[in-house]
Amino acid sequence: MKFLSQYQFKNGLSVKNRVVMSPMTTMASFYNGMVTSDEVAYYALRAGGPGMIVTGVANVSENGKGFEGELSVASDQMIPGLSKLATAIKKEGTRGILQIFHAGRKSNHQVLRGEQPVSASAIAATYPPNSEEPRALTHEEILQIIADFGQATRRAIAAGFDGVELHGANTYLLQQFYSENSNQRTDQWGGTRQRRLQFPLAVIAEVQAVVARYATRPFVVGYRLSPEELETPGIRLADSLYFVDQIKDKVDYLHLSMGSYQRTSLNDPQNTETLLSQFAAHTAGVIPLIGVGSVEQPADAEAVINDGADFVAIGRELLREPQWVQKAATNTPASIRTTFSALDMDELAIPGAMQEYLRTAFRSVMHFTDDETAQASYQNTLAPMEGFEKKL
Ligand SMILES: Cc1cc2nc3c(=O)[nH]c(=O)nc-3n(C[C@H](O)[C@H](O)[C@H](O)COP(=O)(O)O)c2cc1C
Repeated sequence: MKFLSQYQFKNGLSVKNRVVMSPMTTMASFYNGMVTSDEVAYYALRAGGPGMIVTGVANVSENGKGFEGELSVASDQMIPGLSKLATAIKKEGTRGILQIFHAGRKSNHQVLRGEQPVSASAIAATYPPNSEEPRALTHEEILQIIADFGQATRRAIAAGFDGVELHGANTYLLQQFYSENSNQRTDQWGGTRQRRLQFPLAVIAEVQAVVARYATRPFVVGYRLSPEELETPGIRLADSLYFVDQIKDKVDYLHLSMGSYQRTSLNDPQNTETLLSQFAAHTAGVIPLIGVGSVEQPADAEAVINDGADFVAIGRELLREPQWVQKAATNTPASIRTTFSALDMDELAIPGAMQEYLRTAFRSVMHFTDDETAQASYQNTLAPMEGFEKKL
């Protein structure tokens, strides 16, 4: 099986197989974003199998926090906890990647301790309903957030991670700047598509400068993006492919965010090629591409690689089956659990706060044994785990 073969990044970082644990927030960090021992145990149970584990997202700025129980990498105080997390992940050669972001308008004044959320422009998100109207960032604040991404990267290096992944998907701040839906600025950070690209480009440049300055071993910088938005105006597939062409010589890998690896365009029914293969046509031979979405069996993982991806990310299935890679490698697919009971979650080292979140907000996508309405495929609809509270 191709997904079990080794990979080497251009900068020398080797990865023992092509399986990536997809970033999944645990909601189980301390109130201030410090790592808890519950989180360390959760990652330790899943380490050793996948070639890389990407952590749940961590905020780079205090006003970039999106929800309670989220990891923070916004101050040096966080380094000792992040270091324990990196050590737990880097078991038996698994590489550890810290996902970093600023939530922008996808936050609220409760999470921000009374502060108003910030974004490119003062436009509230359509989803979830009743989202708070953010305040438009000033030029100086934008420069500060760019610097915060750099400082977060310095901390990830100090904590022992093998890379950072910029979370430019699921409608968070990096995507908010690129999308005309959320960015209607008239200064250098908005207006044309080229100007809306300037914030992500500045963040990438800052992060790469920090890597060049502080990393003493191979350290990768990945970028995650959502292929399409449904709102008008909003990001269309052509905009995302253009985006990839603009960043592909500036980052070490590209990671898509989708609920199904078989997804075709949500906006253009005439376009029947998988999104994955269309992105692969732009990344092939330049940077590795990570495909994702509803992978459960080894045959799914193989299909992702055969469709042009270099890596396959697995999220929910690794919650249910921490030994997924080992079982695939020993050719015992019949022992791979694709459903689970809420009663299994303690045994699977899923932190209490995450259990609650999986049982409620994410119930419809978890494949609990007592849930007959669970949707199996998100081929033609956005899934809750792509940042949408409900189907559009
Ligand atoms: C509980 C949960 C938490 C998630 N948290 C994040 C996150 O922090 N960052 C991110 O980029 N995606 C997050 N996602 C999306 C997953 O990384 C992944 O893209 C999605 O679940 C589809 O993959 P899957 O079908 O293998 O689960 C989350 C998904 C789930 C189920």
